[in-house]
Amino acid sequence: MLEVIVLAAGRGTRMRSALPKVLHPVGNKPMISHVIDTARELNAARIHVVVGHGGDAVSEAIAAVDVITYSQKEQLGTGHATLTAAPSCGPESTVLVLFGDVPLLSSDVLADVVHIANSGNPVLLAAKLDDPTGYGRVVRNAAGDFAKVVEHKDSTATEREIREVNTGVLAAKGADLLGWLQRVRNDNVQGEYYLPDVLGLALEDGAVVSVVVTDRADDILGVNDRVQLEHIERSFQRKQAQALMTAGVHVADRGRLDVRGSLLCSEDVFIDVNVLIEGDVVIGRGAVIEANCVLKDCVIGEGAQVRAFTHIEGATVGPECQVGPYARLRPGAELSAKAKVGNFVEVKNSHFGKGAKANHLAYVGDTEVGAGSNIGAGTITCNYDGVNKHRTELGENVFIGSNSTLVAPLNVADNGFVAAGSTVTSPVGESELAVGRAKQRNIKGWRRPEKPKK
Ligand code: UD1
Ligand code: MG
Repeated sequence: MLEVIVLAAGRGTRMRSALPKVLHPVGNKPMISHVIDTARELNAARIHVVVGHGGDAVSEAIAAVDVITYSQKEQLGTGHATLTAAPSCGPESTVLVLFGDVPLLSSDVLADVVHIANSGNPVLLAAKLDDPTGYGRVVRNAAGDFAKVVEHKDSTATEREIREVNTGVLAAKGADLLGWLQRVRNDNVQGEYYLPDVLGLALEDGAVVSVVVTDRADDILGVNDRVQLEHIERSFQRKQAQALMTAGVHVADRGRLDVRGSLLCSEDVFIDVNVLIEGDVVIGRGAVIEANCVLKDCVIGEGAQVRAFTHIEGATVGPECQVGPYARLRPGAELSAKAKVGNFVEVKNSHFGKGAKANHLAYVGDTEVGAGSNIGAGTITCNYDGVNKHRTELGENVFIGSNSTLVAPLNVADNGFVAAGSTVTSPVGESELAVGRAKQRNIKGWRRPEKPKK
């Protein structure tokens, strides 16, 4: 059985933030939630999280049936932190220790660590870094076997030359880990109880310590300040973009796509630069998302074209629709196949039937637009009387002339026609023409105002 301990009690002073460090988001998800999800991918039976600073907020954010939180009152070191949770782990369990501020470690690397620990030996995950400053160094003996981890602050000049570092990840059997943790002392430069010291004790007990070395240096990076947070965010985004490309998506620039949620794309989707994805987004085969679009919780159908600067939230765009440039689809907007919503058109809680169009400058709210209908430029559905919202029902092949005001509740039957500039307040029957405007009159001999002569 696998149990995971996540250390998350540190102060995070360098973030300079009221928000506890491990709650800062990567891809719009708290760092610690990435770590917990990774533990779940490894099928951890229980996840023990050690919290301290901002503990209540952290506990609340990660509350779940498989998560148990522990409070470390004083931050006396990673060994001390692990010891607050270790007694609750099964003696036979394999216990994996992770850090709450190292969000990008992937489960496949950790699976190797767990696999070795399952056989009974303690395991350390190490990495080779070009710049190991600040990290604990992995010291090996003449035979190349693990000897100890020495913290940067405790290290000699020669030890500082070592580029192989402790990632912080460690795994061992529950009973062994607990026994060693209880023997860890704090006689070091920082006066802290160091977690990696359990490995020295393991060697004393005659155990074989295994070191797994990962070559994915970027994955082991922790977040201590906002510069590192941005670095990790970019690395996370690059990985997601890469996965999309592998799945057959044409991404114009992996450095200018941000997925803050989940994006599911079929093959041959094209995503241009500066696109932001939030929540759950699904994009169908061959769809094109042009530059500078924001897509949140929406479905884009096959072959649809979402043109530049369009904002879509909580909406469904059918196959081969055209949306934008500069369109806004708000929650409840549903476009059937081949519908068109053009520039500066806002659509909310409305359904467009097959091939229905609103090509320019309109507000369509709480409306059913029948198939093949056309809403002219400048049309507004007046769906709100200050207290209640009302619906507008347009049948099939309806034509709404430009600059019309449709005062809801309103019904325009199939083939109904509204003359441009009308204010329509009563129902329009099938194939009827509604003219709701003052009749034009021309005044002969009218003289323009003139500027007074000086
Ligand atoms: C630690 C390792 C170091 C390793 C580095 C990798 C130790 C002694 N050192 O150093 O070998 O190279 O990580 O990033 O383990 N925490 C608590 N309670 C505490 C202290 C820390 O919960 O009392 C948590 C922190 O919130 C953090 C993690 O443990 O999530 C690591 O602590 P940190 O202080 O960042 O350790 P480092 O000095 O970076
Ligand atoms: Mg650290």
